[in-house]
Formats: sequence, structure tokens, C-alpha cells
Amino acid sequence: MSWSRESWRSSKDPYLPEYPDPQALELAGEKLKTYPPLVFAGEVRQLKAELALAGSGKSYILQGGDCAETFADFTALGIRDTFRVLLQMALIFTFVGEKPVIRLGRVAGQFAKPRSAATEVVAGEEVMTYRGDMINGIEPNPRSRTPDPERMLEAYFHSAATLNLLRAFAGGGYADLYRAGKWLFDFVGNSSVRHQYENLVKNINKTLSVMRAYTESGPPSAQKVDLYCSHEALFLPYEEALARNDSLTGDPVATSAHFLWLGERTRHLESPQVEFLRGLINPVGIKCGPKVAGESLEPLLERLDPHQEPGRITLILRAGVNQAEKVYSRLIRTVKASGRPVVWMLDPMHGNPRHDSTGLKTRYFSDILTECEVFINVCRAEGVHPAGFHLEMTGKNVTECIGGSDRVENLQSRYETTCDPRLNASQALEMAFAIAEYLVNTAPAEKPAAPVSARFW
Ligand code: PEP
Ligand code: CO
Repeated sequence: MSWSRESWRSSKDPYLPEYPDPQALELAGEKLKTYPPLVFAGEVRQLKAELALAGSGKSYILQGGDCAETFADFTALGIRDTFRVLLQMALIFTFVGEKPVIRLGRVAGQFAKPRSAATEVVAGEEVMTYRGDMINGIEPNPRSRTPDPERMLEAYFHSAATLNLLRAFAGGGYADLYRAGKWLFDFVGNSSVRHQYENLVKNINKTLSVMRAYTESGPPSAQKVDLYCSHEALFLPYEEALARNDSLTGDPVATSAHFLWLGERTRHLESPQVEFLRGLINPVGIKCGPKVAGESLEPLLERLDPHQEPGRITLILRAGVNQAEKVYSRLIRTVKASGRPVVWMLDPMHGNPRHDSTGLKTRYFSDILTECEVFINVCRAEGVHPAGFHLEMTGKNVTECIGGSDRVENLQSRYETTCDPRLNASQALEMAFAIAEYLVNTAPAEKPAAPVSARFW
């Protein structure tokens, strides 16, 4: 079967909504093909190599951001705050978890959403469901919900501007380790998390002073970090237009993001998303919900990774706290026995939906943390590295998930998500401390670790 960036078009895509003017969508795609890439093949290869190291136990991966980015919520402060919370969580993982961390934002392209229903009835009128800002608008009226090809181009420019700012933050001093004490949010107020973080920063500063004493100028690369971006590869007209050839090797590469993942609904062999991703060199994530217990992933892994390349595949488990142990033990055992070098990651968000008394969609901090602990236990028992954690979170002080030491109980006051509930900054930091401590406390005894490269702090 030969692959081209258009070969996904030969099978029907249930997630491609009907456009009133399909020709206009094609024209927008042609325009997008002429626009510059958002990420570069060299960065993609570097991430794949880093993921391979994570898979073999050398580091951790933190993947996080909004469930759905929106055009409305597009401000420098918003982008900075998401970056800041990811930086803080990575810092906690590095210093408490004692391994370097790969930072992977769900950012700069997370604009398309799979929905269970094609339409919904609002005020007696049937309208298409909201599919993400790249496709239609959230306002529940027929005009806004009609798919608009211009939105695809708008998503590109939003992503470009977001990445531009993130690259500046990551390389331009904001991420400087010496500033870690300044990253704290004002609203991470009374809780023990604030103390924990301040203590951590004190210890880091002490360590830095010692390093400075030894090296005169201090660890120079503590001023910069690497940040990668990712989103679900769902809306293929956008992905196709941004698939390019690596100028060094000629290999096809997605330039919409460094890392793309297949959702729970699109990870089957007939899916056009699988067809599209199989021909690209990018690292690929595969969400694995509870149904995976009754399936074999082998044909899918063979399709996407015939050469068994380390770092190519990350399995993102999301079975939910109640089924986690059973599903993960079996899956990890089977894949391990096949010898495939996959990276193991947990998404403890999507298997744990709940509703509050008013019917609002939420998640419990305690479910999320418990699933993380079960995942780590199973990985330890099966002898694989619990490499990654995939969280929906934001730097904003929202009230969307219940629990945590700031005791979010009433969701109504700041419930802002357009899709799934996110951890707020305080909950995200508390979660990072709890996961990192659990990782350290359950780690198998090993030889003294090699010194952490300053580049990865
Ligand atoms: C998501 O990550 O927002 C999502 C829809 O996940 P899943 O495909 O696992 O349901
Ligand atoms: Co989601």
C-alpha cells in the first residue's frame, strides 16, 4: 500500500464534518500548503530521540494543556500561564522525581475535537455539535455551528503566534531556573502546595549556589528549556496541508506539531488518521481506553511502527480508575512480550468523567491521583518505566475539577472550559508533587544515577 499525504482520503472520515462549500475547504487547504511550517523536522527528530530515552527509563514526560484551545481565550497572559504551570510541574518532577523531564504542551494546534454526537438540539433547534474552533463556533446557533474553512487558516495563525511566544519564553529568559521562585501564581494561596513549592525553590537555589561555586559562571544552560507541542491529529485537511518533506532527508513530516496523537475514537486500522500518520516520521501517541482490554494492538502497532523504532510510539492509557489495574496489566504484559519499544504514558483524565449535582461535567482530583498510583504500581509490577503523564490543565484559577487541598467544591464560580474540565494551577502543582513523590517512593533500587544534564533541568 503506497502512502501519500492524500492517501487518507480514500477512506471515509466520520470526523470530517460536511462543509456547505467543499470547494472552499479545498481552496483553504491549498493556501495553507504555501504557508511556512510551524515546527521543523530537526526538532521532531530530537523529540523522538528524547522519547526513546524516556521509554528506556531515563526521563519523564509531562504532556499538558487545554482540552480544547479557543480563539477567544488567546492572550499573552493565558499562554504564559499555561507555560508557567508546565514549567513548575516539570521542575517538581525533576527535583522530586529525580529524572529529567520532557515538556510537551497540548498547545498551538489543539483546535479540533471528536464528539460522540453529530448534532444536538438547542432551544428546540437541531444544530451541529461544536467540533473545535478550527471547524465551527461554540455559540449554539446554526450560523456559528456551520463549518467554516477560514477557521482552519485562523487556527494556523493562532498556533503560529502561540508558538512564537512560547519559543521566546522557553529561550529568552523567562524559563531561567534562577527565576523559579517568581513563577508562583498569586492565587496559589493558602494551601500547603505553596509552601512545598517555596521549599523546593529554596533547595534548588542552594544547589545552584553550590554549582556556581564550582563553575564560576554557574550552569549556563539553566536559562533555556525545550518545549514541544502536540495535539490530536483529527482534522486531516489541516494536517495534510502542513505535512512537508524534511529538507535534509526528504522524509514526510507533520509540521503542525512535534507530536501528534490518535484519539480513542480514531485508533483503529481503517481510520484515515492512522493512514495519514503511518507515513510521517513524527512520534505518535495512541490513546487506549478500556475497550483495549478486548483487542490486540499488534496490527495497529505494526502499521504505524513496522521498524520498531524507539520513541516512535507512545501508548497513552486512559481506562479510568476502576478498570485501570486489569486493563493496564494485560496490555503492558502483552506489548512487553512482543518486544516493541513503546513509551508508557497515562492520561488519568478521560477515563474518569463525573458530574456535579447540577449536571456539570467534572473530574475528581482523588480519582486522577489514584489512577496515577495504579498505573505506577502496574508498571513497577510488570517491569516497565511509567514514563509519562498526560493532563488537561490550565494556568488559570478555574473551578472545573473537584478536590485538592484548595478544596474546590463549587464548580459554578469559574467554570470556563469549552470542552473537558481541567486542573487549575494549584491542583496541577499539587498533582505533580503527589505523582513525583509516589514515583520516587516506589522506584526500584538502582545504581547511583548519572548526573542530570543541566540542559534538561
Ligand atoms: C482528549 O484528549 O481531549 C480526548 C478527546 O481524548 P480521548 O480520545 O482519549 O477521548
Ligand atoms: Co479532553
